[in-house]
Amino acid sequence: MSAILAAPRAKDLVRKMTGCRLLVVGDLMVDRFLWGSVHRISPEAPVPVVHLNSETSALGGAGNVGRNLQALGATVALVGVVGQDRGSEELRRLLKEAELDDRGVIELPGRITTVKSRVIAHQQQVVRIDRESQEALSNESTQKVCDRALEFLAGAQAVVISDYDKGVVTPGLLGLLLPASRKARLIVAIDPKPPNYKYYTPATVITPNLQEARTMLGSKSHTNQEILEIGLKLRETLQCEAVLLTRGEEGMILFQKSGDPLRIPSYAREVYDVTGAGDTVISVLTLALTAGASLLEASSLANLAAGLVVGKLGTAVVTPEELIVASERSG
Ligand SMILES: Nc1ncnc2c1ncn2[C@@H]1O[C@H](COP(=O)(O)OP(=O)(O)OP(=O)(O)O)[C@@H](O)[C@H]1O
Ligand SMILES: [Mg+2]
Repeated sequence: MSAILAAPRAKDLVRKMTGCRLLVVGDLMVDRFLWGSVHRISPEAPVPVVHLNSETSALGGAGNVGRNLQALGATVALVGVVGQDRGSEELRRLLKEAELDDRGVIELPGRITTVKSRVIAHQQQVVRIDRESQEALSNESTQKVCDRALEFLAGAQAVVISDYDKGVVTPGLLGLLLPASRKARLIVAIDPKPPNYKYYTPATVITPNLQEARTMLGSKSHTNQEILEIGLKLRETLQCEAVLLTRGEEGMILFQKSGDPLRIPSYAREVYDVTGAGDTVISVLTLALTAGASLLEASSLANLAAGLVVGKLGTAVVTPEELIVASERSG
């Protein structure tokens, strides 16, 4: 990585991340884990009986982006919606524990708070149960979210849109928020999902994985050449500064306005859990850009951070010290 980002520069950027002010707008979720063990098959149906040993939960989706940013020293405002249910209480408790501001969390009566529950026995996932609504917010609720986001926009240096296609990020919201962010000259980074992709403009950078990018363009591409064409076409269509295409263990490809696409090989040494790698990418990318990095420098740092996070169990985050040490090792 030394050719892209020398360790002293990485260190400088990581230091400058402290105190950067970011606004995150998107789908808030709770990731719940039910840990147990299996000793027999149920007499009621051919399924294992899981004896529950413990329960844990963590912030997911936009909340996990908030946690990633906060862990690197940023000041974060989070805007999203919850219902008035057990999930919303849990989400607020998790925000409090993480010392994240919950003033941007809007309660909508009748809405279901997204909770993804996994039952895990002997380190293996037995089943996942999603309690959620994917219904797009009404115009009235969208306006509420937008008003709250615009309040926080005034104090922000950059905006992250964390779209998990759970209804918060609508064409209406994007149509108000993106032009306002552009007018305020803010960096806007979007972790996208295919349905809304045509409305992701104007933005600075979007970070689809390969499958998302394929779906956006209705492509079934497989060869390296076809993958390059997808990235180029997406950047051209959205007229953003860059598309950062993430490719799991194969790393990333950065497509900018000029020059050839740049491949960034993945950094991971050990891979335990890839959950949340995309949240780490969008967080570190945006924060590095806010700290003054070029798109290539920011992407390299995001790749390094994602490589660290997949080596940890659960929806994990990376600290400034870990990022600095990794940049020295990889140099
Ligand atoms: N198996 C892996 N080995 C090494 N690095 C990985 C692996 N999986 C993910 N990464 C790192 O994380 C980055 C993002 O991963 P990926 O392309 O899977 O994003 P994603 O599909 O958006 O993830 P998410 O499921 O969190 O939304 C990759 O570009 C790479 O740097
Ligand atoms: Mg993703």
